[in-house]
Amino acid sequence: MVELFRIVGGARLAGNVTVTGAKNSVLKLMAAALLAEGRTVLTSAPQILDVVIMGEVLRRLGCMVTMDGGTVAIDCPERLGSEADYDLVRRMRASICVLGPLLARTGEAKVALPGGDNIGSRGLDLHIAGLTRLGAEVTSEHGFIIARAGKLTGASVWLDFPSVGATEQILMAGVLAKGTTVIDNAAREPEIVDICTLLGEMGAQIFGAGTSTIEIDGVEGLHPATHETLPDRIVAGTWAIAAVMTRGDVTVRGAQARHLEITLDKLVTAGATVEPLLGSTGFRVAMESRPRAVDVVTLPYPGFPSDLLPMAIALGAVSDGASMVTENVFDSRFMFVNELTRLGGDVRTDGHHAVVRGRERLSGAPVRATDIRAGAGLVLAGLCADGSTEISDVSHIDRGYPDFVANLRGLSADIERVEVPELDFPLEF
Ligand code: EPU
Repeated sequence: MVELFRIVGGARLAGNVTVTGAKNSVLKLMAAALLAEGRTVLTSAPQILDVVIMGEVLRRLGCMVTMDGGTVAIDCPERLGSEADYDLVRRMRASICVLGPLLARTGEAKVALPGGDNIGSRGLDLHIAGLTRLGAEVTSEHGFIIARAGKLTGASVWLDFPSVGATEQILMAGVLAKGTTVIDNAAREPEIVDICTLLGEMGAQIFGAGTSTIEIDGVEGLHPATHETLPDRIVAGTWAIAAVMTRGDVTVRGAQARHLEITLDKLVTAGATVEPLLGSTGFRVAMESRPRAVDVVTLPYPGFPSDLLPMAIALGAVSDGASMVTENVFDSRFMFVNELTRLGGDVRTDGHHAVVRGRERLSGAPVRATDIRAGAGLVLAGLCADGSTEISDVSHIDRGYPDFVANLRGLSADIERVEVPELDFPLEF
């Protein structure tokens, strides 16, 4: 049996939804727990498969990991293993982020190469160059990256691109290195600030988090800490765009509007009303009429997030007018456009640009989620399509959106998760 989302389009989303901790933060926070012996506790963790997989990666390295609701407790032993195998890494590329902390703690790390990904080539050259600058010897053998270093030594690292993963990797290696590490052209995403905050709580000396230059004064050792994961800005942005596309009225509780400035500003340009909540974190997005087309250019933070690109294209597909959408972070985010055209979307791509000509309504059809965000973009499109849309490969969507179907139903969407046989004919010659 396989699972599908079955959506009947046409509902106007209305009501409240609450955002939990960010997937792209908590996975790195869990890896950071490797840096200190003892119990690190992370709260507001999203209850998604990726967190379970990262828990298993840590267990196989010798940690005891417990998950209770949104709380993840990691008991890290004095002596850690040093290998993360392909079986886990292929399921979740973010497992690679244990490389830096393992190297810093144990002097060696062997992590399987993650291989291809549905959104582009996603190299690791910046991770490797950064760790090498800190004195590690990094090789690749039999499908593994192997890194060794007696004691890491602080150094200046200039990133060619403000890579989120490479910045995190160098941060986690640098905190226990001898001397000072400076990362120039560092990523500035809120998730970077979150991991720097946790590392600071563990005793690390980090300056400039959230800016392009991060300075790390290495310390002898870190201690465990308790930390609340920052709210998921991509999930929050998905709800905001869904409200606009369905001409709805959605209050997104627990979200930080300041992490979504450009996104919310685009929605206002499209005709939405966006207002902060009084007395609590979150915002309300309301839309009365058909959205006006807006152009979008993705860039590293604080630019428009690449992770919201499929939703921006889905928005363009139902807007009044033509939108130009430009992707600057990953090289194959547009793969999902083929699926959107099955729903009647009028999208033309050329290199990293897409021209989206809006239609009054889309038309329900079976489609396939090719990655987490593409899947969410298709759900949003399905909500605006006539008739029924069936989305397959929903395990991708489940990786990034806790309780997505229940939350959508709570906002009045007509969506259900259904199980169907994988094939309706025998697989025999
Ligand atoms: N890149 C390289 N070499 C490197 C590192 C990155 O060429 O050594 C390239 C990548 O190929 C890509 C670009 O740089 O084209 C951006 O990569 P980055 O390292 O910034 O991204 P990441 O750390 O691999 C994280 C998120 C992504 C999110 C990006 C950008 C996690 C687990 N993943 O990926 O999230 O899109 O940052 O914000 O944190 C998602 O959640 O669906 C997702 C893909």
